[in-house]
Amino acid sequence: MADKFISVKEALAKGKGKVQLRGWAHRVRTFNDKVFVVLRDHTGIVQCVVKPEQTSDKIFKEASKLSQESSFTIVGDLKEDKRAPGGYELQASGFEMVQRAEAPFPIAKAESESPEFLLDNRHLWLRSRKMVAVMKVRDTVLEAIREYFRKDGFYEFSPPIFTPVACEGATTLFEVKYFEDKAYLTQSWQLYGEAAIFGMEKIFTISPCFRAERSRTSRHLAEFWMAEVETAWQTFPELQEQAEGLICFIIKKVLDKNADELKELGQDIEKLKKIKAPFKRMTYTEVLKFLKDKEKMDVPWGKDLRTLEEEALMKHFTTPVIVTNYPKEIMAFYKPADPKDKKTALCMDMLAPEGYGEIIGGSQRDLDTTAMQKALKAAGEHAEHYGWYFDSRKYGSVPHAGFGMGVERVIAWLCKLDNIKDAIPFPRTMMRKTP
Ligand code: 4AD
Ligand code: MG
Repeated sequence: MADKFISVKEALAKGKGKVQLRGWAHRVRTFNDKVFVVLRDHTGIVQCVVKPEQTSDKIFKEASKLSQESSFTIVGDLKEDKRAPGGYELQASGFEMVQRAEAPFPIAKAESESPEFLLDNRHLWLRSRKMVAVMKVRDTVLEAIREYFRKDGFYEFSPPIFTPVACEGATTLFEVKYFEDKAYLTQSWQLYGEAAIFGMEKIFTISPCFRAERSRTSRHLAEFWMAEVETAWQTFPELQEQAEGLICFIIKKVLDKNADELKELGQDIEKLKKIKAPFKRMTYTEVLKFLKDKEKMDVPWGKDLRTLEEEALMKHFTTPVIVTNYPKEIMAFYKPADPKDKKTALCMDMLAPEGYGEIIGGSQRDLDTTAMQKALKAAGEHAEHYGWYFDSRKYGSVPHAGFGMGVERVIAWLCKLDNIKDAIPFPRTMMRKTP
């Protein structure tokens, strides 16, 4: 086999002639006089047929040993064939087994396996067409985030993962042994991002975040990735525009690059194409009125919106909605009161349609250290541990704002996934830390 290996995608683009491929046996059917094998590589699948008269008895015998997921190389003539899956068939002139897979493959019939079984076998399930499609979309999303911020002059900044204090409340902190002391796994880069803008002004990160979420929902992970941005001098309206701009940019990139994957995942491309900025904006107070009028739901002012209420609201929209001005009292300590409506904070959540929930959370940052200390104390936290953070407000403080986007939440929405666990290669939840 002297010829160069090409990918299935390149072979299908070529459409005919001699091609040499390598990959895995996605499906195999063996007969007395021929072997049908669907070869899979990272770009796609193609049906191949091995017959003794076109190869040799020895080669045919070798190909007859193929089992699902065996790795092999194959060379032959590619022809259009309407009956073959994908419309092409490779008639082999040569075949070499790289490794015959042990049989049976543990995930022989994926359709009839439970989600838990597939999660237990995630290391093998990562080869599935579904997981490969999602991971390709994930790759595009990560690239798009970087491109979006870089083209606007933002620098990528690396925050620490071990942290001394909570950013998003002590109840979801993961405590870890830290030499003779203890530390916490980061919940968000924010406090570090805020310190860094006094030198860099415009920064972003894509970093793992950890939350000991006790909720067993389809949208919470214990380890997830967050894309976060922090911008000096930014106003609250600018923050919202930046957030919707990011979502639109990601969608555009995914549509450009992953139309095949979206189809494979059963996502409606036309629906995604219709998502355009500006997104609808509503205040928390307007949401409560909307829920009362349209859904007969009575949420007392001051209570946070639960999944139930977010879903009831989002039933009425096909594009994301930005909800602003949540009650100041129930918000994280760094979210400032809105000077025009002091009971509410200058903060926003972006909610995705179709029950995918909050994809972005962000705010203007409080500059008033007395107010922040008071909020920390009210939340039962030790304000004295935040001294280093308050230093940023002492030496040339400037208005600034930022947000965090849940990478897996966005992927789950764009890929139409039933569960956020399929948006990350190896999910970590309260119930799962393996494989
Ligand atoms: O709303 P959150 O908690 O905001 C922050 O952490 C801010 N410090 C971000 C900032 O302003 N720099 O989290 C931001 C986003 C949420 O909107 C959600 O999309 C995602 O992170 N998220 C989770 N995703 C998966 N699993 C979890 N347990 C998540 N918790 C938050
Ligand atoms: Mg939030």
